[in-house]
Amino acid sequence: MTEPEQWWRHAVVYQVYLRSFADGDGDGTGDLTGLRSRLAYLADLGVDALWVNPWYPSPLKDGGYDVADYRDIHPQFGTLADAEALVAQAHALGLRVLADIVPNHTSDQHRWFVEALAAGPGSPARDRYWFVDGRGPRGDEPPTDWPSVFGGGAWTRVTEPDGRPGQWYLHLFDASQPDLNWGNPQVVAEFEDILRFWFDRGVDGFRIDVGHGLAKDPSLPDLGLSGSSEALLAVPHGDDHPYWDRPEVHAVYRGWRAVGDSYDPPRVFVGEVWLDEPARLAHYLRPDELHTSFAFELTDPDWDAARFRAAIDAAVAAAAVARAPVTWVLSNHDLPRHVSRYGRPPAERERFGAAAYDFTGLDVALGRRRARAAAMLSLALPGSVYLYQGEELGLEEVLDIADELRDDPIFARSGGTLPGRDGCRVPLPWEPRGDSLGFGSNGAWLPQPRSWADLAASVQAADPTSMLALYRRALARRRAEPALVSDGFAWRPGPPSVLAFVRGEGEDAVEVLVNLGPDPVDAPAGEVLLASHDLADGQVPPDAAVWVRAGREPASDPAPPA
Ligand code: NOJ
Repeated sequence: MTEPEQWWRHAVVYQVYLRSFADGDGDGTGDLTGLRSRLAYLADLGVDALWVNPWYPSPLKDGGYDVADYRDIHPQFGTLADAEALVAQAHALGLRVLADIVPNHTSDQHRWFVEALAAGPGSPARDRYWFVDGRGPRGDEPPTDWPSVFGGGAWTRVTEPDGRPGQWYLHLFDASQPDLNWGNPQVVAEFEDILRFWFDRGVDGFRIDVGHGLAKDPSLPDLGLSGSSEALLAVPHGDDHPYWDRPEVHAVYRGWRAVGDSYDPPRVFVGEVWLDEPARLAHYLRPDELHTSFAFELTDPDWDAARFRAAIDAAVAAAAVARAPVTWVLSNHDLPRHVSRYGRPPAERERFGAAAYDFTGLDVALGRRRARAAAMLSLALPGSVYLYQGEELGLEEVLDIADELRDDPIFARSGGTLPGRDGCRVPLPWEPRGDSLGFGSNGAWLPQPRSWADLAASVQAADPTSMLALYRRALARRRAEPALVSDGFAWRPGPPSVLAFVRGEGEDAVEVLVNLGPDPVDAPAGEVLLASHDLADGQVPPDAAVWVRAGREPASDPAPPA
């Protein structure tokens, strides 16, 4: 058993994309009242904690990752009192609450940026951001060749208070998201104070946005890249990238860890750190830095056993270097939903490029079947797991959102060539009826497919064969089996299209088998604890998974998998 303060080592955390979870006040947008009204659902599901995407006042140019005030709640989502009530109510149900901190950039409506624009070149207010003179005789060329992750360039020129064209400011994301200067001590102090503000209100920890960002090389060297976003996210070797994974960022996290550790119980951090090199990722997971960091490896492969095996090995190796738990994710609010990823023919694809959104040949029913097996895979791996809201309902990516309703800045900044991330952010269906399927009393900010009536939470709650029922059983089983929250993990030999491994040791060890091939395979011998699909004659059908306790004989009159 891990000590109580190490709960994060094997926790299952449910990601709440607040705008799309549940609408309590009938404005078509999810909010804290809606979330509070559904907390019992999350407790019944059996998760340990929630991570709530940014809830701060924001112009919502990037879904709230453009924060105008880090110490308040967006009026659309509720009030500070609502947030405090949420935390208290969650705690009473045994659920911890993680908030989302956005330290790489603020909104252009943040007080600091407004001050910086008014204060002019060379002012202390401008030094909190990256305001730089342009190149060329008239300063009308951007200071570097850096591209924005969302498309286009990473610099925008401002008009100075005297009306003349002036300096440029850096924004690695949208132009409405100016990058902060983490070399400025005021920025460092401000964020430690923001952490304390929320920790004092009971928040149990933070997910850190763009955790490998923050620090920049002040000499602002050119990249010399062709400018594709995939190249941008491929972190080069060494300490020489001008803005990703710079060594200076670690001092920031050491400061944050000290703040978190000064609380009882200690507060925790999970980093969104996009790095492919285990040794570099391990730096973020040193004992005086972050507790965990998402393992995005499982979000890459389509339905292919060899790729999954390689992804699992890579993630386990990366975490082992740091002795940190692996933090598995199949989906989140930035990636196409995995039902749709697994329901298309496998291919070599970029993570965020156009191919990631190519769903030619999609078979949603097949994807949903595979998603059941994938859930059992991720929930049986060693470490912690983050579930993205709606995956427990088997929701697929929504592909037919009208252009005029698309909200993600990626759509506009790519000139409409990339659909963006709205398809995984469509509001949840709670009931089979009503104009927003129980999301709220007055529509939903993005339209839901009518077919989601059949996937509504209330419908699935009443159906023991549903995806929701499978998640509930899997989470209950995970809690009940010490092997599934132990560190023990070893591959078993098997056919190439099968993933087979054992968790734990001795009598209580659990054998896990996931069949990604076209033919049935024999299930491991023993007592079936859970199966994603019916096993016929002791065989695991294609695209199915099973958990078996090998150390015990099956009961003479076997109970159905539960
Ligand atoms: C990562 C977040 O998950 C994403 O939604 C956001 O657009 C970028 N960081 C920029 O903040």
